[in-house]
Amino acid sequence: MTTEHALTVPSPREAGCPFDVPRPYRQAAEEGPVVKAATLSGGECWMITRHEEVHAVLGDRRFSADALLPNFPLMTEELRKMVAESRKSTPEIDEQEHIRRRRMLTAEFKGKRVEALRPQIQSMVDGILDGMIADGGPVDLVSRFALPVPAAVICLLLGVPFEDHQFFKDRARQMLDFRVGPEAMMKARIELTEYMNKLTAEKQQQPDEALISTLLTKGELATDEVAGTALLLLLGGLETTSSMLSLSTLALLQHPEQLAQLRADSSLIKGAVEELLRYLTVVQNGLARVALEDVEIGGQLIKAGDGVLCMLSIANRDETVYPGGHELDLQRGARTHLSFGFGIHQCVGQTLARAELQIALETLLRRLPELRLTVPVEELRFRDSLGFYGVEELPVDW
Ligand code: HEM
Repeated sequence: MTTEHALTVPSPREAGCPFDVPRPYRQAAEEGPVVKAATLSGGECWMITRHEEVHAVLGDRRFSADALLPNFPLMTEELRKMVAESRKSTPEIDEQEHIRRRRMLTAEFKGKRVEALRPQIQSMVDGILDGMIADGGPVDLVSRFALPVPAAVICLLLGVPFEDHQFFKDRARQMLDFRVGPEAMMKARIELTEYMNKLTAEKQQQPDEALISTLLTKGELATDEVAGTALLLLLGGLETTSSMLSLSTLALLQHPEQLAQLRADSSLIKGAVEELLRYLTVVQNGLARVALEDVEIGGQLIKAGDGVLCMLSIANRDETVYPGGHELDLQRGARTHLSFGFGIHQCVGQTLARAELQIALETLLRRLPELRLTVPVEELRFRDSLGFYGVEELPVDW
């Protein structure tokens, strides 16, 4: 594969609307559904830009999500060493084993279980807002609301003490932040792994009603596998949901007419959350895969061993599926979006994430009808260095 043009992934966002997909990705989508691109680590990959083809790749078992395969996009040599090192303690599992473990988890994240958690999520959201309102504005909505809500929910779910949330939030962020370098990323991973191992060992002595104890009691996973699964859930559920909460609030404040519709009719909240998931697509650099065999996608032959990057952000704005897709339209009915991925790696926590977002956003807007930004949007700092797009701080008053 040779790269014919200067399309590079990841691509930084330009100044202007913070929700615009980087221009090179939009241009790539105009070129075709499968476009050659250079990765910042010096490699090459195929960028998949259209909804139909992204869906096809993610649903096709001939593409692997194993990050250690050669040509895996978004992988540097240093990062590769780090992942290889961490695999020594948690060996790579094959697809059958992945499916077995997933099945065990999806049972815990089913609709009914999540529905039963709603009253507790509501009371946690109310408690966090009570504290924020009592202290008075202005506040940073990220640290006072958007992060504590998913942290409290994941703590409840797993049985992790909420007092530790600052510790694991900092480590989780460091682990995913390319700016800090591979050693600091690795250190954070080791500290988090040790924390989870210790907690899991404690649960073995003193079980509770939460998920770590449930998985231990089932006895289908070894103790270190339970700890690894808990860590995966912690990492998967925190920064993603937190970014979605802060960016959704900002997007609504920037679209006052849409915000007014939602305030006037709170039954719109479910559809609004789907549209916000589509429009914001926080998994900004796409989902990486490697072809295990020759596969034709969108009329293009992808050879065995080639890396592909499924660009969720641009596929979620595919005009053939979402007319006017670069605009936010809360009444669109965007349920087919790809923000939780698709196929065997599709997000395990999506039902929970949806419930959290619906409850947190509805409650925030209802309780703070005068919510507003206290700085111009141009002064906000957005986060491009993590795999997840986000805003560092969101200064608000009400
Ligand atoms: C709005 C919030 C969220 C977004 C946008 C999101 C997005 C995603 C995406 C795109 C994937 C697919 C990765 C791939 O195919 O390579 C994924 C996987 C995953 N997510 Fe989420 N997620 C969110 C919330 C959560 C929550 C709340 C949890 C758990 C409590 C969670 C746990 C996981 C896990 C464990 C996986 C790996 C599944 C597997 O490999 O089989 N996520 N997520």
